[in-house]
Amino acid sequence: MKITVIGAGNVGATTAQRIADKELAEQCVVVDVVEGVPQGKGLDMWESAPVSGSDTMIIGTNGYEETAGSDIVVITAGLARKPGMSRDDLLAKNAEIVGSCAESAIKQSPNAIFIVVSNPLDVMTYVTMKRTGLGRNRVLGMAGVLDSARFRSFIAMELNVSVEDVTAFVLGGHGDSMVPLPRFSTVAGIPLPELIPAERLAQIVQRTRDGGIEIVNFLKTGSAYYAPSAGAVQMVESIVKNKRRILQCSVWLDGEYGLKNTVVGVPVKVGKNGVEQIIEIKLLPEEAAALQKSAEDVKANIAKVKF
Ligand code: NAI
Ligand code: 2OP
Repeated sequence: MKITVIGAGNVGATTAQRIADKELAEQCVVVDVVEGVPQGKGLDMWESAPVSGSDTMIIGTNGYEETAGSDIVVITAGLARKPGMSRDDLLAKNAEIVGSCAESAIKQSPNAIFIVVSNPLDVMTYVTMKRTGLGRNRVLGMAGVLDSARFRSFIAMELNVSVEDVTAFVLGGHGDSMVPLPRFSTVAGIPLPELIPAERLAQIVQRTRDGGIEIVNFLKTGSAYYAPSAGAVQMVESIVKNKRRILQCSVWLDGEYGLKNTVVGVPVKVGKNGVEQIIEIKLLPEEAAALQKSAEDVKANIAKVKF
């Protein structure tokens, strides 16, 4: 197993380190445009291997030759959000960056599965699909895992229970119109609305929607990366080990949930082929309307991308 991570910034480097710590690949190649940074971070991470006991060989590079034959490519390259900046502000610049990275990577690794992290996430997943020419089963966007993890962590704090017992469900685009679904979120199988009063639950849902900006406002010079890299690596692991986890991933929809020609987060069975299955659940009219609105927001942004 060989994994390439494009972008050696906060998310990319942390992703590579998590891949190595979990020994998910024999080799992990980190690519960045800044000279010396991927080489330095790669070497530093590799030098931690004797201590962590991982044989995942990490190397850093500014080119793509070293990525040849990768099984998985994780794209984290691009600009991150700064205070006052929405994810959509990043659209034009990151479409250019992500498109060129995807194109270079697929040339070297025609059989790879792509996991996209760069923002605006759902649009960048579409850009990657277009620029690689791959079918939707091999291009997955990471956001739902992060948004659900945030929801889960807030619920665990609220109820003072283990995060392990909390499952949460967040559909839709990775933006202000994301759709956390308390009805499908549980603590040890007990639906959330039975445990938390509606008014308080609404506040937790809103905090989940604002989860990204909450971190940006603390950091001031960048955005979250510990939870995002954990999310990306959970998807990597499900592919590498063919675990068939049901994870909320951003994928191109072709009629599922009544949505077409757009990319949004839905529950996906993730395995060795990437998207093994898109799981459809029956939504209440208001939930379906919220998902539709979120999908339309993404569609409007997809229309702004120039190829
Ligand atoms: P960062 O600024 O720390 O790292 C980005 C890296 O990309 C930099 O090292 C930069 O040199 C590199 N880069 C720029 N152009 C490149 C190119 N053409 N080829 C290769 N590398 C290139 O940013 P961070 O925090 O790592 O975030 C990366 C992206 O991930 C951002 O777009 C951010 O908004 C997004 N993000 C998405 C999340 C999600 O849930 N989907 C969560 C967190 C971040
Ligand atoms: C986040 O949600 C910035 O999209 C990124 O943290």
